[in-house]
Amino acid sequence: EWTTGSIVEEQVAAIREQVGDAQAICGLSGGVDSAVAAALVQKAIGDQLTCVFVDHGLMREGEAEQVERDFVAATGAKLHVADEKKRFLSALQGVTDPEEKRKIIGREFIRAFEEAERNILEEAQAEGASVEFLVQGTLYPDVVESGGGEGAANIKSHHNVGGLPDDLDFRLVEPLRALFKDEVRAVGAELGLPAEIVQRQPFPGPGLGIRIIGEVTERNLDILRTADAIAREELTRSGLDSEVWQMPVVLLADVRSVGVQGDGRTYGHPVVLRPVSSEDAMTADWSRLPYDLLATISNRITNEVEEVNRVTLDVTSKPPGTIEWE
Ligand code: XMP
Repeated sequence: EWTTGSIVEEQVAAIREQVGDAQAICGLSGGVDSAVAAALVQKAIGDQLTCVFVDHGLMREGEAEQVERDFVAATGAKLHVADEKKRFLSALQGVTDPEEKRKIIGREFIRAFEEAERNILEEAQAEGASVEFLVQGTLYPDVVESGGGEGAANIKSHHNVGGLPDDLDFRLVEPLRALFKDEVRAVGAELGLPAEIVQRQPFPGPGLGIRIIGEVTERNLDILRTADAIAREELTRSGLDSEVWQMPVVLLADVRSVGVQGDGRTYGHPVVLRPVSSEDAMTADWSRLPYDLLATISNRITNEVEEVNRVTLDVTSKPPGTIEWE
């Protein structure tokens, strides 16, 4: 019978058989797929697995901690954290073009991951072990899609943490290859991963970097992270998480408008709420969230985030709008 428990048992046995005594590494993105793949492999081979988390500083509030603390606590996995926040900020300095941002983030990510990888390989070598395997959270729809031609691939240069360089000749371990997303979530829950990881909404590889219209600076990231955390908290509190596919919050860092607070003039930035409903992100409709919820989010953001004096709602479907603004 095809139960979550039997999927786990079957995959654990298959991973043990494939990997044997060798070592494996796995990149964690903060997303569901890499976390569940890593947890499965950890269950199968324990400390023969080293997980790598490249912290690019473009995650939402609390997400780096979810990986560094909660994932490790839940799985006991060996984790190598590469703190690369400064590297990404300096590579992105002065850059406002969306495609350029995407390319820089993708490129720096691969470089940072390769450096971490090299460290791990050297450490293993010093101990007489060899790292032969790379774990990837490839799902069944990814398998089908990558066999299915290019399609709309040129609209944006997608950066996915799964899409790593293939010059180091690892053999791949892909324990989720036969699974759909909902099955992956069930397996993650079965393995004891926290709900924040297992139920996480889709989040782009380039992270908040493509939700800042304008330059990606520490200040702009802080503003956006705070506004985004408020919006997510209120959406969850309203009980409507499951109605929404994802809700990007976008900071218009290049725009300022005049406002009034207390008896003073403000000249701050707008943020855009972009809640969408979708089946697969190929098409989407803007979510008809209750006005009361939107009002709460707006009040809290403008009260609690000093630099933001206006909250707007994106009422565009996809097409013609994409879900992300860049
Ligand atoms: P768009 O903006 O193209 O987004 O309508 C469709 C879905 O893809 C996500 N997205 C990305 N995911 N790397 C990713 O892993 C990326 O570079 C990327 N860009 C967009 C987006 O959040 C939405 O779910």
